[in-house]
Amino acid sequence: MAERILVAEDQENLCRLIQTTLSEQGYEVAVALGGDAAIHELMQREFDLVVSDMRMPGASGMEVFRQARARDYLPDVILMTAFGDAREAVQLMKEGAADYILKENLLEELPVRVRQVMETRKLKADSKMLQGRIETLEERIHVHRFDTIVGQSPAMRDALHLAQRVAPTDASVLLTGESGTGKEVFAQALHAASHRAAAPFVPVNCGALPETLLESELFGHERGAFTGAVRTKPGRFEVADGGTVFLDEIGELPQSTQVKLLRFLQDHTYVRVGGEELRRTDVRILAATNRSLEEMIKAGGFREDLYYRLNVFPINLVPLRERREDITPLVQHFLARHERALSDVRPEALEYLRSYDFPGNIRELQNLIERACILAGTGSIDRHHFPIERGRLASDAGELLSLGLSIDQMERRMILEALERAQGNKTRAATLLGISRRALYSRMESHAIPIGGVEADAAESAANPD
Ligand SMILES: Nc1ncnc2c1ncn2[C@@H]1O[C@H](COP(=O)(O)OP(=O)(O)OP(=O)(O)O)[C@@H](O)[C@H]1O
Ligand SMILES: [Mg+2]
Repeated sequence: MAERILVAEDQENLCRLIQTTLSEQGYEVAVALGGDAAIHELMQREFDLVVSDMRMPGASGMEVFRQARARDYLPDVILMTAFGDAREAVQLMKEGAADYILKENLLEELPVRVRQVMETRKLKADSKMLQGRIETLEERIHVHRFDTIVGQSPAMRDALHLAQRVAPTDASVLLTGESGTGKEVFAQALHAASHRAAAPFVPVNCGALPETLLESELFGHERGAFTGAVRTKPGRFEVADGGTVFLDEIGELPQSTQVKLLRFLQDHTYVRVGGEELRRTDVRILAATNRSLEEMIKAGGFREDLYYRLNVFPINLVPLRERREDITPLVQHFLARHERALSDVRPEALEYLRSYDFPGNIRELQNLIERACILAGTGSIDRHHFPIERGRLASDAGELLSLGLSIDQMERRMILEALERAQGNKTRAATLLGISRRALYSRMESHAIPIGGVEADAAESAANPD
């Protein structure tokens, strides 16, 4: 479709001449023989460009310009002016007029200037359309990233709301919560929903490396910095340039590294291990901890100044047992990964899950569902597909440690589980645990587990004297 031009010029001959010239260029040209008529036209139809004389009886070129720019369709405006009278036109260019032409050169200049203005206009429209598309895409990614996080409980909604607010910024975020509550999932979503999404997301487990290695891992090292440093190596901060570094288990950070991190958070500069050059990198810091940093500060294990730098925007993820309404939707979510539905789970099995404490939080629930799906095959999923077995306790010691359970807490859990499985029968419970009845009693006592069911118990002990 041809671009539309309105010509506003009170000398009829000149006006027609301009119309003919521009029509020959392929534009659709309307004319107005004066400012008032031009303003009337602007109200009636849309134009891409207005070519207006500055001086006209009635509304002046300046008024035509202002009216034109007030339209939603925002036409461009080229002003025509006499030599020695150009000051006003120049002023209007500062307010957004596209160009002005001296009338002396009008017919040579006009087609060229019009073409230039039209081209620029088209480029602007294209880039605006592209920008709009990018924004919708970004919005979709944004929503999508947080979509993978399941949870409708008020606590979860609060956390999601906070995360969505802070995601597009460069603020440091401190994610706190027990093991398996989704700290890393949140960190990834924060990155993916930020303007850094196209750059790397680099996780570093601060607890997994000894002090010297950790420092070189984070900040890099120069050749010969220490034994084994045979070549220069960039650190994770450098690798993540433009992106996000996720410092997991930040509470494990050694003191000396805490100092370096603090300096980095203050001015984004660092020095490689064994180097001297002050380097700079642009990364956003997300950190996570399942330990209470406040308590570590009190005990002298964590720097308070670093804590305040990291804790600009805290997000706490509450344990699953404190938001039990999320259990069912999570079960459904994990079942779907195995092409199973909630209706495949027997009601009492679901009830069992809903009353369980999940010391390992969502990770534990996810593992339980995965196992149950394998065990149940194509049949329905039963209570007994969710066992917490002794074998598992023994073989998954590493996992238990990372759950942050003490031996004492673990013993208590094992005793409770054994009692539940033995339906309160102490002898069977003791057998399950591989200890004597007497030992079971004394341990129950030390864990303040009520003995209960005295009568049944008396009969039981008469039948099974230790
Ligand atoms: N809200 C959630 N919706 C769906 N899946 C989740 C959610 N939260 C966590 N998960 C799943 O649970 C598992 C554990 O999550 P994640 O690794 O983020 O926990 P974490 O808090 O970092 O634990 P840790 O402190 O042990 O490192 C992951 O496999 C993740 O996919
Ligand atoms: Mg984690």
